[in-house]
Formats: sequence, structure tokens, C-alpha cells
Amino acid sequence: MKQFLLLFTFFITIFQGHSQENLPTDYLSKEFHKGRREAFRALMPANSVAVIFSYPERVFSRDINYNYHANPDMYYLSGYKEPDAVLLIFKEAQGTGETYNEVLFVRERNATREMWTGRRLGVEGAKSKLGFTTVYNGKDFKDFAVDFKKFSKIIYDKIPSDLGNSRNDFDLAGLFESFKTKAGITAGNTASLESFNDITSSLREIKTPEELELMRKTVKLSCIAHNEVMKAVGPDMSENEADGIHSYIHRRYGAEDEGYPPIVGAGANGCILHYGENNSTKMDNQLLLMDVGSEYHGYSADVTRTIPANGKFTEEQKAIYQLVYDAQEAVFKICKEGTPLLDLNNTAKEVLAKGLIKLGIITDPQDVKIYYPHGCSHFLGLDVHDKGIFKGPQSLLKENMILTVEPGIYIPANSKCDKKWWNIGVRIEDDILIKKDSYENLSAESPRKWDEIEKLAAQKSTFNEMKFPKI
Ligand code: GLY
Ligand code: MN
Ligand code: MN
Repeated sequence: MKQFLLLFTFFITIFQGHSQENLPTDYLSKEFHKGRREAFRALMPANSVAVIFSYPERVFSRDINYNYHANPDMYYLSGYKEPDAVLLIFKEAQGTGETYNEVLFVRERNATREMWTGRRLGVEGAKSKLGFTTVYNGKDFKDFAVDFKKFSKIIYDKIPSDLGNSRNDFDLAGLFESFKTKAGITAGNTASLESFNDITSSLREIKTPEELELMRKTVKLSCIAHNEVMKAVGPDMSENEADGIHSYIHRRYGAEDEGYPPIVGAGANGCILHYGENNSTKMDNQLLLMDVGSEYHGYSADVTRTIPANGKFTEEQKAIYQLVYDAQEAVFKICKEGTPLLDLNNTAKEVLAKGLIKLGIITDPQDVKIYYPHGCSHFLGLDVHDKGIFKGPQSLLKENMILTVEPGIYIPANSKCDKKWWNIGVRIEDDILIKKDSYENLSAESPRKWDEIEKLAAQKSTFNEMKFPKI
């Protein structure tokens, strides 16, 4: 009897499927996603259809995939976070009788697969949880009665070229194949791609109040992580352990992931812009550059702090740090609606060039690019390098954009300057909300001034008290 009850409970659980308990309560609402689809539709040209596919799954090891990451555009427009899906948005209502202007094709429910790889929302879930009225299983896409050829424009994103052969009509490769056949798509059709990117970029570059709330949260908890590492770090800590403290704190506050692979590099490693090995076992008295941001309900923070591993900046470390700080402050001052985007990097470059000349590291201002080889800012949101319109000098900052401001100086060993500067790498990166006449630094909670960092570093962290068995 007990066994029967257990079995019964098991089947009830499987068939109730996604009625999972104790989930976060602050996900984006179905009204948000519906509103984004309406905004998308408003920007579509007459007699057009948009086709949005989910991202592919990727192999981690043989038959094990990486944890799935949804296509941010699919998530933004639907809230659907599973693979093997396609969303159609029509400019005008379609069909006769019961008309529709959007259709979502989702993964079919399957008790066995769900027991192995997790819950699926399915058709009914997509209706009740995401608010769609017209939803089918992916396998119905091939024969779905839509004549793509009747539209003046089909708007769709770049189709990945490495999906392999479709195993069936309803995996992603199969859905793409059906789409290409139905729509007569051949390679090299970039006109549709441009429209897709123009529309999604112009929507996503301006954050709505719901998005702002999640952005504030992801940035705030990333700052808490940075501050804790500032306290916990010491010359004997490994890069990997510092990385782990960040991840622990992110998850402690409910973040699902990091928004990008964490960069935690001491000394020479801090001079590698996208360093990701994080495998140095000791930091000694070097500068530790930490570019780490959480992903919370899809939204990424992007925060960099550079700190002395032993708690005290040397004179040389401090001089470079102060220069990067001054460049960042100069950029902050022009952060407001109406500033040309290009001015941000130009301002950073100018301050950094003057400072490097003053320190005797360069003589020609053009050489600033040797030690500052990247740009100062990018949009931030669902993607760490978020979508936004950039069309040269005429692109201006607008209210409710969020951008990073991230000047840096990197002086690897053997650079053509006094060797006292070698292996100093400094980046300071903050997440800035643009307002009408000013800005708000969403990451202000983590100190940036060198003396405030030293003060925080002098404090103890709870992580210093944790004891684990020796191995
Ligand atoms: N973390 C990547 C970047 O700063 O752009
Ligand atoms: Mn960045
Ligand atoms: Mn970054």
C-alpha cells in the first residue's frame, strides 16, 4: 500500500508537471512579455511576420549538455525559457473566424523525458503561465498553415550554421529546416536580419520599470559579492576561491548564474582582458582584477573592482588605479540624456592619455591604445553586451538606458616602460542608469576610491572563519 501511494504520488507529480513549489516570486510577468510583443509589433512594417527561434543546446561532455540558456530575445518576447521552440509575431491578425497575431510552438510534454531532463511548460503551461492564446507543439510547425511567401517581409535573426542534422521535425534544426522550406529562405538573406536587430535593439536599449527592478537587484547583489571578496581576500587565496565566493553570494541571493564567465586575475593575469582560467593558486601582493557580475532572472550585472590582494596598494599600483578612477569620474560627468555615445570613450581616452604621459609611461597620446585597448562602454541588460542602436556620432544617450563605464590600464611584463609598472592591470567598471539630466550609478554600493577599498579590505569576512577538512 505504501508503495502504491508512493507510485501514485510520483505520477501525480509528473503529470502536474511544472507546478513546482517555492519558486521566486519576482519573475517578469506575462503582461510584461505581452507588452514587449505589442511594442515589437508596432515597429514591424506592414504585412510582415517575425520568426524568433530558441537558442540551441550545447554539449558540455558527451551526452551531457551545459545548463540551458534561453535566447534573450525569445525570453524578452515570450518568457519561454526552454529549447526547441519558435515564436511567430504577425503585424496583422491572421486567419478567419478566430484570428490570431502570434503563435508559439513549444516542446511537447513527455513524462519520461521530464523525469530525466526536467519539467516542460508544454502547450497548456504556455497558455496559463505565459498568457499565449495560440500555442502548438513544435511538431505541428511543419504543417502549420502559414504562407510565409505572402508577406512583404519576413523578419528573423541569424540562423546558427552549426546545428547539425535534424533528428526530427521538432528539434531546433528541424524547426529551422521547416522554416527555410516554408519561407523559401536561402543563405545570405541579410535584409531580414537587419530589421530584426533594429527592432530588438531599439526596444531592449531602453529599460522598462520591470526590467529596472531586476537590473537593480542583479547589480546590488554583485556589489555585495565584490565587497565580501574585498574583505575575505589575502595573499594566499587562489583566484578560483575568490571566484567561488562571488558565485556563492550570487546564488545565496537567488541569482541563477553569472552573466558571463568570471574574470578573476591577479598581477599578470589581470592584464589579460578576458582572462578566464582563474587558476593561479596565490595572489601574493599583486593587484587582483575581478570582473564578475551575476545573472538574475535573465539580467546581467557587469562590475569590475581591482584591489590589492594584501590589502594595501603600492605607490605604483595606486598611481595607475587613481588614473583609471579619474577617467571613470570624467566619463560619469557627461552621463545624461543627449550625450553622444562616442564621447564616453573619447573622454576616457583623453584622461588616460594625459595621465600616462604624466607618469612617463608614454610620450605620444596616440599610444594610449597600447595600455587601454578596449572601449569604455556597452549596453547592459539581458545580454552582458546588450543590444542597442549604435550608429556613430548621431547615436545619443537616452533616458533609461543602462551602460557600463569601464576604463582600464593594462601593463603586461616587457612593456616599453619602466619595469616598476609591469604586471599592473586595473579596470574599474560600473553600471550606469542614464537619466534626463544626470545618471545613477547602480553599482555605487561597492567602493571605488582606493582608500575606501583599503578600509573595507581591512575588515574580516565570514569566509575567513570557515573551516574545511585538509586534503
Ligand atoms: N565582462 C565583460 C565586459 O566587461 O565587457
Ligand atoms: Mn563590461
Ligand atoms: Mn566586465
